[in-house]
Amino acid sequence: MHLSLRQLRVFEAVARHNSYTRAAAELHLSQPAASMQVRQLEDEIGLPLFERLGKQVVLTEAGREVFQSSRLINQSLREMQEVLESLKGVSRGSLRIAVASTVNYFAPRLLAIFQQRHPKIGLRLDVTNRESLVQMLDSNSVDLVLMGVPPRNVEVESEAFMDNPLVIIAPPDHPLAGERTIPLARLAEETFVMREEGSGTRQAMERFFSERGQTIRHGMQMTRNEAVKQAVRSGLGLSVVSLHTIELELETRRLVTLDVEGFPDRRQWYLVYRRGKRLSPAASAFRDFVLTEAAVIAAPANLDAV
Ligand code: PGA
Repeated sequence: MHLSLRQLRVFEAVARHNSYTRAAAELHLSQPAASMQVRQLEDEIGLPLFERLGKQVVLTEAGREVFQSSRLINQSLREMQEVLESLKGVSRGSLRIAVASTVNYFAPRLLAIFQQRHPKIGLRLDVTNRESLVQMLDSNSVDLVLMGVPPRNVEVESEAFMDNPLVIIAPPDHPLAGERTIPLARLAEETFVMREEGSGTRQAMERFFSERGQTIRHGMQMTRNEAVKQAVRSGLGLSVVSLHTIELELETRRLVTLDVEGFPDRRQWYLVYRRGKRLSPAASAFRDFVLTEAAVIAAPANLDAV
């Protein structure tokens, strides 16, 4: 059989995600390119590897066999790559970093400084939501992750490196703007613009309210912080966001934060990697950089000012 490693890599990603679209996104391929790789593999093997169940693709019996082997092959390729990276030393090599969408408000600043210091390290940044970050950690397809809520269902090391205060935002002409120590219960009368399921901000927000027995009214749902901020500005409701996302809006007074009991919710950003992962010298250097310098370079605006 003439199987290629590329075919096996694409096949493994499709099987893991039960989806061509998500696998293609992870591998930075177009969806037709991913389908073609799998089709060629099926032709070579002479059996179908997937069948369609509604919108999902699931493995056939032959597919399950190939999946078991391809996981092992991919795992051992990644281990080989880690060893080779470590032989290259810190001055070279490549580094794959994935961050939660909210982290992208400061990640490029960190990468720019790190890249200046280590110009020969090839850096790759993926920005995605929490759910995909957890999958990337699980499949060991990323070196380091920066996120707000480390996973519990995957064995990881996680180290806090900077404050991540969550605040309630409102348009400047909102009746509660400027009021002091607003009781939490008062929020029952308000509508909240929500981030999507799978967002770390949303998870933290829901936990905050449910731990305090406070129900809130859900309004529109949006997949981007930028969309949430525009919606709040347009009067569609209040929302909870990381202080990192609203530096400009606070400066220009396009949005204000509300002084609600329990807020800011003081959370942390975490640097996360798979437990037992052998960090390459480039990855170790980035880890040290984030743990010692990120808070100096990218700390959110002065909390006393909100
Ligand atoms: P989010 O992540 O952008 O997915 O909301 C932020 C977080 O993990 O706290």
